Amino acid sequence: MINIALPKGRLGEKVYATFEKAGYECPSIKENNRKLIFENPEKGVRYFWVKPSDVSIYVERGAADIGVCGKDILNEYLPDVYELLDLKTGICSMAVAAKKGFHDDGETTLKVATKFVRATKAFYAKKGRDIDVIKLNGSIELAPILGLSDVIVDIVETGTTLKENDLEVIEKVFPISARLIANKASFKFKTKEIEKLTEEVGKLID
Ligand code: PRP
Repeated sequence: MINIALPKGRLGEKVYATFEKAGYECPSIKENNRKLIFENPEKGVRYFWVKPSDVSIYVERGAADIGVCGKDILNEYLPDVYELLDLKTGICSMAVAAKKGFHDDGETTLKVATKFVRATKAFYAKKGRDIDVIKLNGSIELAPILGLSDVIVDIVETGTTLKENDLEVIEKVFPISARLIANKASFKFKTKEIEKLTEEVGKLID
């Protein structure tokens, strides 16, 4: 049995549809209820719906053998897992944004609001830019509008949130897409099963 952690929400549903097509269906997952675990012993799969930012925790600690999570989470928490496949979905990017017309004078400490503290620090350290990181948990776009920060480092998908709040992208930090990840011990003990699943799912990705 392969234990699979899927991110709850639209991305997870899309990824499940691919797994289903690849031959790892689990019909009970489509029942409209609030259950979180579904299994199909015939296909050797057990799926869990997990909060997206928690998938890498389940996989790293072996509660799930494999899982699907965004590159943003992998870059932030650096979990000790194998990255098996770029699923080329859930595509967006990590970007620096600010109020329209903002110019970084490069002199005073730059105030940066973000959920992604590690990735932000690493990005600015590489440039040698001195920053003051303000950790927020959501609605990051509010920070520069209210003067809490100069810029934000956040996920941009369609750009609508920025546009509707008179903000704009200044710089891209890194591209993001969903990745298939595996627990290292599980990969050792279930190599054949996990490699087969990776191969079958991989065939459906362009
Ligand atoms: C994310 C991100 C942006 C928004 C970007 O927020 O933090 O706010 O999506 O999407 P867009 O470019 O298509 O407008 P999320 O919905 O995850 O919630 P959050 O504000 O709580 O982080």
